Amino acid sequence: MRFDIITIFPEMFTSVFSGGIIKKAQEKGLLQVVVHNLRDFTADKHRQVDDRPFGGGEGMVFKPEPIFAAVESIRRTSQAPAYLLSPQGRKFDDRLARDMARRRQVILICGRYEGVDERVGQSLVAEEVSIGDYVLTGGEPAAVVILDAVSRFVPGVVGKKGSVEHDSFSRGLLDFPHYTRPRDFRGMKAPQALFSGDHRKIAAWRRRKALEKTWLKRPDLMSAVELSPEEAAVLDEIRQEQKERNKS
Ligand code: 6GU
Repeated sequence: MRFDIITIFPEMFTSVFSGGIIKKAQEKGLLQVVVHNLRDFTADKHRQVDDRPFGGGEGMVFKPEPIFAAVESIRRTSQAPAYLLSPQGRKFDDRLARDMARRRQVILICGRYEGVDERVGQSLVAEEVSIGDYVLTGGEPAAVVILDAVSRFVPGVVGKKGSVEHDSFSRGLLDFPHYTRPRDFRGMKAPQALFSGDHRKIAAWRRRKALEKTWLKRPDLMSAVELSPEEAAVLDEIRQEQKERNKS
């Protein structure tokens, strides 16, 4: 899979993609990351990418021409969909990450917080995408987040095939708790259930904990989860236990 990132700060990406799993995936040829400097697509002497907003006001706005030129240049060899990264976009989530991972190539345009000329969103991009309800100084950190999350769904990028599927959100549930040695750390003991050696028991404990964690920490996720009859019964137990605890 190939990512084309359009930015006025190409140097921001040099270190993030030269370590860890993303670096390995590039070395293995599973992932290609091409960073384009927006200024290379300007036509004027000053390589100007922004201008003052029509109607007045604070801040500068990205001009449409360099962004259109950059995307059209990338599309000379492909029909890759482009995404404008901005706080006004559709919220990025597991589903959008999986959808993007099905593409051979995607273009990520890093906006800036003051704004990008509306015509970019209107006719150049498939979608505007935001990574959450807060404002970043630019889309660059969002591009890193999206590239990382999407790459995990590219076959071969994450070591074990099953591990991506078992992660948080694959079912819309949070992950179960993990423990490793020592068994007793400063009086905090790893749960007995993990030492039974009975894999079915351990799996049942993990499902229960994932349900419990999601219900307690992210009740907003629960409505989208499809529970098996067993899981629904476990959830009832958890609720009952919680009620008892709140009484005492
Ligand atoms: Cl994609 N860009 C900016 N500038 N701020 C954001 C964002 C993106 N997502 C959340 N906040």
